[in-house]
Amino acid sequence: MSQSEDTSGPDDAFEALDSWVPDEGSGGDEGEATRREASEAESSRASRGWWDRNADEYQSEHGAFLGDDRFVWGPEGLDEAEAGLLGPAESLKGLDVLEIGAGAAQCSRWLAAQGARPVALDLSHRQLQHALRIGGGVPLVQADAGTLPFKDASFDLACSAYGAVPFVAEPVEVFREVRRVLRPGGRWVFSVTHPVRWAFPDEPGPEGLSVAASYFDRTPYVEQDERGNAVYVEHHRTIGDRVRDVVAGGFRLVDLVEPQWPSWNTQEWGGWSPLRGNLIPGTAIFVCVRD
Ligand SMILES: C[S@@+](CC[C@H](N)C(=O)[O-])C[C@H]1O[C@@H](n2cnc3c(N)ncnc32)[C@H](O)[C@@H]1O
Repeated sequence: MSQSEDTSGPDDAFEALDSWVPDEGSGGDEGEATRREASEAESSRASRGWWDRNADEYQSEHGAFLGDDRFVWGPEGLDEAEAGLLGPAESLKGLDVLEIGAGAAQCSRWLAAQGARPVALDLSHRQLQHALRIGGGVPLVQADAGTLPFKDASFDLACSAYGAVPFVAEPVEVFREVRRVLRPGGRWVFSVTHPVRWAFPDEPGPEGLSVAASYFDRTPYVEQDERGNAVYVEHHRTIGDRVRDVVAGGFRLVDLVEPQWPSWNTQEWGGWSPLRGNLIPGTAIFVCVRD
């Protein structure tokens, strides 16, 4: 499937997964894990392949926690309905909202329920097929966050719950694109892995509590196949880097939210767990404004 050229809704190329049954372990092969440089092109290629291969497993494992039409900012379970980082829920009515790295578009479905007009964008065709499977009629666009297929000033708000930003080599390019498609005064709110987590092993238990790497080492985390091609990439930025990127992208940072692990949440999500969540932050949410 090539990238969508416009903002129209899903077409015949997105077949719904009517016959999909949740299961465990349907993901693609894991590659050899290393830390090495990865260009924007290699990162994008790896992300698209990885999320296409692993979308079924991701939705099977996390779909119930995310909910079909909730807006959850990360593994802590912070819900936009209570956080109001995009503004009060009642103020969303009638707004054009772009969700970037939308996955199965759960957040967009919540936005639509508030009366907003969301567009759910993702690089992965398979993730968007899950969006169709769940339904709800949110317009879906397959595209890379670095080249948004929209006219200038098309949206009032942009948001992303762990979508795209952790996976791109050049976040400033993404932020400039988001700024371009936002109208003046629009918010751009995105969540990422909290940068401090990069210093710790990605383990939910006690072994994940001891510093094992330099927080200051920005070398990307890469899983690669036997030929050395990246099959999964995550890019590390320090908190200071992220703030500078936001500013370089043309935004004003108005809040940086570090959700605390709530007592009701007993569920682990990869390396995120109640044990670690009570001691160190797991998610950083950047609330930015395009002046
Ligand atoms: C961790 S999932 C988050 C999805 C959804 N927001 C959620 O909370 O389940 C990351 C999503 O970002 C998408 N993604 C990764 N790189 C991207 C890029 N460069 N442009 C657009 N989407 C991207 C992936 O395909 C995946 O669906």
